[in-house]
Amino acid sequence: MKAPEMLARIRENGAIPRHVAIIMDGNGRWARERNLPRPLGHRSGMKSVREVVEGAIEVGIEVLSLFAFSQENWQRPVTEIQALMSLLEEYIAREADELAAQGVRVRVLGDLARLTPPAAAAAAQLMERTAHNDRLVLNLFISYGSRAEIVRAAQQLAEEVRAGRMAASDIDEDAIAERLFTAGVPDPDLLIRTSGEQRISNFMLWQVAYAELYMSPVLWPNFRRQELYAAILDFQNRDRRFGRVTA
Ligand code: FPP
Repeated sequence: MKAPEMLARIRENGAIPRHVAIIMDGNGRWARERNLPRPLGHRSGMKSVREVVEGAIEVGIEVLSLFAFSQENWQRPVTEIQALMSLLEEYIAREADELAAQGVRVRVLGDLARLTPPAAAAAAQLMERTAHNDRLVLNLFISYGSRAEIVRAAQQLAEEVRAGRMAASDIDEDAIAERLFTAGVPDPDLLIRTSGEQRISNFMLWQVAYAELYMSPVLWPNFRRQELYAAILDFQNRDRRFGRVTA
Protein backbone atom coordinates (compact mmCIF):
# COMPACT_ATOMS: atom_id res chain seq x y z
CA MET A 1 0.00 0.00 0.00
CA LYS A 2 1.24 3.50 -0.80
CA ALA A 3 1.50 6.22 1.85
CA PRO A 4 -1.58 8.28 0.80
CA GLU A 5 -3.76 5.18 0.76
CA MET A 6 -2.49 4.16 4.21
CA LEU A 7 -3.18 7.63 5.52
CA ALA A 8 -6.74 7.52 4.13
CA ARG A 9 -7.31 4.16 5.86
CA ILE A 10 -5.95 5.48 9.15
CA ARG A 11 -8.39 8.40 8.96
CA GLU A 12 -11.27 6.09 8.05
CA ASN A 13 -10.54 3.85 11.03
CA GLY A 14 -10.55 6.91 13.22
CA ALA A 15 -8.83 5.80 16.44
CA ILE A 16 -5.71 7.95 16.23
CA PRO A 17 -3.14 7.33 18.98
CA ARG A 18 -2.60 10.57 20.87
CA HIS A 19 0.96 9.71 21.86
CA VAL A 20 3.40 7.52 19.91
CA ALA A 21 6.82 6.64 21.35
CA ILE A 22 9.66 5.16 19.31
CA ILE A 23 12.85 3.36 20.33
CA MET A 24 15.00 4.13 17.29
CA ASP A 25 17.30 1.13 16.94
CA GLY A 26 19.52 -0.42 14.31
CA ASN A 27 21.67 2.49 13.13
CA GLY A 28 24.86 0.57 13.87
CA ARG A 29 23.72 -2.51 11.98
CA TRP A 30 22.60 -0.38 9.05
CA ALA A 31 26.13 1.09 8.87
CA ARG A 32 27.81 -2.30 9.29
CA GLU A 33 25.79 -3.76 6.41
CA ARG A 34 27.37 -1.07 4.25
CA ASN A 35 30.87 -1.23 5.75
CA LEU A 36 30.45 2.33 7.01
CA PRO A 37 31.47 3.73 10.41
CA ARG A 38 28.64 3.64 12.99
CA PRO A 39 28.20 7.43 13.16
CA LEU A 40 27.11 7.37 9.52
CA GLY A 41 24.26 5.10 10.56
CA HIS A 42 23.16 7.69 13.12
CA ARG A 43 23.47 10.43 10.52
CA SER A 44 21.30 8.46 8.15
CA GLY A 45 18.79 8.01 10.99
CA MET A 46 18.20 11.76 11.04
CA LYS A 47 16.24 11.47 7.80
CA SER A 48 13.95 8.93 9.46
CA VAL A 49 13.39 11.39 12.30
CA ARG A 50 12.22 13.97 9.76
CA GLU A 51 9.94 11.37 8.13
CA VAL A 52 8.20 10.36 11.35
CA VAL A 53 7.76 13.97 12.45
CA GLU A 54 6.05 14.79 9.15
CA GLY A 55 4.07 11.55 9.26
CA ALA A 56 2.92 12.25 12.82
CA ILE A 57 1.67 15.70 11.82
CA GLU A 58 -0.21 14.27 8.83
CA VAL A 59 -1.91 11.65 11.00
CA GLY A 60 -2.80 14.15 13.72
CA ILE A 61 -0.76 12.59 16.54
CA GLU A 62 -0.44 14.99 19.48
CA VAL A 63 2.81 13.76 21.02
CA LEU A 64 5.77 11.97 19.42
CA SER A 65 8.50 10.72 21.79
CA LEU A 66 11.83 9.59 20.34
CA PHE A 67 14.54 7.79 22.31
CA ALA A 68 17.72 9.30 20.84
CA PHE A 69 20.35 8.64 23.51
CA SER A 70 20.17 6.58 26.68
CA GLN A 71 22.13 6.95 29.90
CA GLU A 72 23.74 3.62 29.03
CA ASN A 73 24.91 5.11 25.71
CA TRP A 74 27.46 7.21 27.67
CA GLN A 75 29.46 3.96 27.85
CA ARG A 76 29.96 3.84 24.09
CA PRO A 77 33.32 4.80 22.56
CA VAL A 78 34.12 8.50 22.93
CA THR A 79 34.18 9.00 19.16
CA GLU A 80 30.62 7.70 18.84
CA ILE A 81 29.41 9.87 21.74
CA GLN A 82 31.02 12.91 20.16
CA ALA A 83 29.41 12.06 16.84
CA LEU A 84 25.97 11.76 18.50
CA MET A 85 26.42 15.10 20.30
CA SER A 86 27.38 16.88 17.10
CA LEU A 87 24.51 15.20 15.28
CA LEU A 88 22.13 16.61 17.87
CA GLU A 89 23.54 20.08 17.24
CA GLU A 90 23.36 19.53 13.51
CA TYR A 91 19.80 18.22 13.69
CA ILE A 92 18.74 21.32 15.62
CA ALA A 93 20.60 23.70 13.30
CA ARG A 94 19.15 22.08 10.19
CA GLU A 95 15.60 21.42 11.34
CA ALA A 96 14.82 24.30 13.72
CA ASP A 97 13.21 26.56 11.09
CA GLU A 98 11.15 23.75 9.62
CA LEU A 99 10.03 22.48 13.03
CA ALA A 100 9.05 25.99 14.10
CA ALA A 101 7.18 26.59 10.81
CA GLN A 102 5.30 23.29 11.17
CA GLY A 103 4.08 24.25 14.63
CA VAL A 104 6.12 21.62 16.47
CA ARG A 105 6.91 22.16 20.12
CA VAL A 106 10.25 20.47 20.85
CA ARG A 107 11.19 19.30 24.31
CA VAL A 108 14.56 17.72 25.03
CA LEU A 109 14.17 15.44 28.05
CA GLY A 110 16.82 13.75 30.15
CA ASP A 111 19.91 14.51 32.19
CA LEU A 112 20.87 17.53 30.10
CA ALA A 113 23.70 18.53 32.45
CA ARG A 114 25.79 15.78 30.84
CA LEU A 115 25.41 17.08 27.29
CA THR A 116 28.29 18.97 25.71
CA PRO A 117 27.78 22.72 26.32
CA PRO A 118 27.04 23.51 22.63
CA ALA A 119 24.51 20.66 22.40
CA ALA A 120 22.83 21.74 25.66
CA ALA A 121 22.70 25.37 24.49
CA ALA A 122 21.20 24.40 21.12
CA ALA A 123 18.59 22.25 22.87
CA ALA A 124 17.64 25.03 25.32
CA GLN A 125 17.33 27.55 22.50
CA LEU A 126 15.12 25.28 20.39
CA MET A 127 12.86 24.49 23.36
CA GLU A 128 12.42 28.19 24.07
CA ARG A 129 11.85 29.08 20.44
CA THR A 130 9.10 26.48 19.96
CA ALA A 131 7.53 26.64 23.44
CA HIS A 132 4.33 28.30 22.22
CA ASN A 133 3.67 25.78 19.38
CA ASP A 134 0.87 23.26 19.76
CA ARG A 135 0.45 21.21 16.57
CA LEU A 136 2.74 18.40 17.69
CA VAL A 137 4.84 17.95 20.83
CA LEU A 138 8.15 16.32 19.88
CA ASN A 139 9.89 14.85 22.93
CA LEU A 140 13.55 14.04 22.23
CA PHE A 141 14.83 11.81 25.02
CA ILE A 142 18.55 12.37 25.35
CA SER A 143 20.80 11.15 28.16
CA TYR A 144 17.62 9.57 29.50
CA GLY A 145 17.00 6.53 31.68
CA SER A 146 13.57 5.68 33.00
CA ARG A 147 14.67 4.25 36.36
CA ALA A 148 16.73 7.37 37.04
CA GLU A 149 13.69 9.48 36.17
CA ILE A 150 11.59 7.55 38.71
CA VAL A 151 14.36 7.83 41.35
CA ARG A 152 14.42 11.59 40.80
CA ALA A 153 10.64 11.75 41.31
CA ALA A 154 10.98 9.71 44.52
CA GLN A 155 13.67 12.05 45.82
CA GLN A 156 11.52 15.10 45.10
CA LEU A 157 8.58 13.53 46.93
CA ALA A 158 10.74 12.54 49.90
CA GLU A 159 11.98 16.11 50.10
CA GLU A 160 8.42 17.47 50.08
CA VAL A 161 7.39 15.08 52.83
CA ARG A 162 10.47 15.99 54.87
CA ALA A 163 9.66 19.68 54.46
CA GLY A 164 6.12 19.01 55.70
CA ARG A 165 4.48 20.08 52.43
CA MET A 166 2.80 16.71 51.96
CA ALA A 167 2.10 13.49 53.86
CA ALA A 168 3.55 10.15 52.75
CA SER A 169 -0.01 8.89 52.40
CA ASP A 170 -0.68 11.64 49.82
CA ILE A 171 1.77 10.01 47.41
CA ASP A 172 -0.30 8.44 44.67
CA GLU A 173 0.18 7.65 40.98
CA ASP A 174 -0.58 11.21 39.95
CA ALA A 175 2.00 12.56 42.40
CA ILE A 176 4.66 10.43 40.75
CA ALA A 177 3.50 11.13 37.18
CA GLU A 178 3.61 14.88 37.87
CA ARG A 179 7.29 14.60 38.75
CA LEU A 180 8.37 12.77 35.61
CA PHE A 181 9.74 14.59 32.55
CA THR A 182 6.43 13.83 30.84
CA ALA A 183 4.27 15.65 33.41
CA GLY A 184 1.06 16.86 31.82
CA VAL A 185 1.48 14.70 28.71
CA PRO A 186 -0.84 11.71 28.10
CA ASP A 187 0.85 8.30 28.34
CA PRO A 188 1.96 6.68 25.07
CA ASP A 189 -0.78 4.67 23.37
CA LEU A 190 1.70 2.99 21.05
CA LEU A 191 5.37 2.09 21.57
CA ILE A 192 7.34 1.18 18.47
CA ARG A 193 10.79 -0.40 18.50
CA THR A 194 12.71 -0.85 15.28
CA SER A 195 15.35 -3.35 14.14
CA GLY A 196 13.62 -6.48 15.43
CA GLU A 197 14.75 -6.19 19.06
CA GLN A 198 12.04 -6.98 21.61
CA ARG A 199 13.06 -4.97 24.66
CA ILE A 200 11.98 -1.79 26.45
CA SER A 201 15.59 -0.85 27.38
CA ASN A 202 14.72 1.45 30.28
CA PHE A 203 12.51 3.75 28.18
CA MET A 204 9.44 5.36 29.80
CA LEU A 205 8.79 2.34 32.03
CA TRP A 206 6.15 4.13 34.06
CA GLN A 207 4.44 5.76 31.10
CA VAL A 208 4.13 2.69 28.83
CA ALA A 209 2.12 0.70 31.37
CA TYR A 210 -0.79 0.27 28.94
CA ALA A 211 0.86 1.09 25.61
CA GLU A 212 0.40 -1.26 22.70
CA LEU A 213 3.76 -2.61 21.57
CA TYR A 214 4.79 -2.79 17.93
CA MET A 215 8.11 -4.34 16.99
CA SER A 216 9.24 -3.51 13.47
CA PRO A 217 12.03 -5.50 11.79
CA VAL A 218 13.10 -2.39 9.84
CA LEU A 219 16.43 -0.81 10.82
CA TRP A 220 15.93 2.82 11.93
CA PRO A 221 17.68 4.47 8.93
CA ASN A 222 15.26 2.60 6.63
CA PHE A 223 12.17 3.62 8.64
CA ARG A 224 9.89 5.79 6.49
CA ARG A 225 6.45 7.24 7.13
CA GLN A 226 4.87 4.12 5.59
CA GLU A 227 6.39 2.14 8.48
CA LEU A 228 4.85 4.56 10.96
CA TYR A 229 1.50 4.26 9.18
CA ALA A 230 1.74 0.44 9.22
CA ALA A 231 2.27 0.56 13.00
CA ILE A 232 -0.75 2.82 13.44
CA LEU A 233 -2.95 0.61 11.24
CA ASP A 234 -1.89 -2.36 13.35
CA PHE A 235 -2.66 -0.37 16.52
CA GLN A 236 -6.15 0.38 15.20
CA ASN A 237 -6.86 -3.37 15.07
CA ARG A 238 -5.91 -3.93 18.71
CA ASP A 239 -8.46 -4.51 21.44
CA ARG A 240 -7.34 -2.19 24.23
CA ARG A 241 -8.87 -3.30 27.52
CA PHE A 242 -6.67 -1.64 30.18
CA GLY A 243 -7.12 -4.73 32.35
CA ARG A 244 -10.89 -4.74 31.98
CA VAL A 245 -13.12 -7.01 29.87
CA THR A 246 -14.49 -5.92 26.52
CA ALA A 247 -17.93 -4.31 26.58
C1 FPP B 1 20.34 3.12 18.16
O1 FPP B 1 21.07 2.44 17.17
C2 FPP B 1 20.32 4.56 17.91
C3 FPP B 1 20.96 5.50 18.66
C4 FPP B 1 21.74 5.14 19.85
C5 FPP B 1 20.95 6.93 18.29
C6 FPP B 1 19.72 7.48 17.67
C7 FPP B 1 20.06 8.75 16.99
C8 FPP B 1 19.54 9.18 15.82
C9 FPP B 1 18.44 8.50 15.12
C10 FPP B 1 20.08 10.39 15.12
C11 FPP B 1 20.01 11.65 15.86
C12 FPP B 1 18.65 12.16 15.96
C13 FPP B 1 18.34 13.22 16.70
C14 FPP B 1 16.94 13.66 16.82
C15 FPP B 1 19.37 13.97 17.42
P1 FPP B 1 22.30 1.52 17.61
O2 FPP B 1 23.54 2.33 17.45
O3 FPP B 1 22.07 0.96 18.95
O4 FPP B 1 22.22 0.41 16.48
P2 FPP B 1 22.70 -1.11 16.60
O5 FPP B 1 21.86 -1.77 17.65
O6 FPP B 1 22.42 -1.64 15.22
O7 FPP B 1 24.16 -1.08 16.93
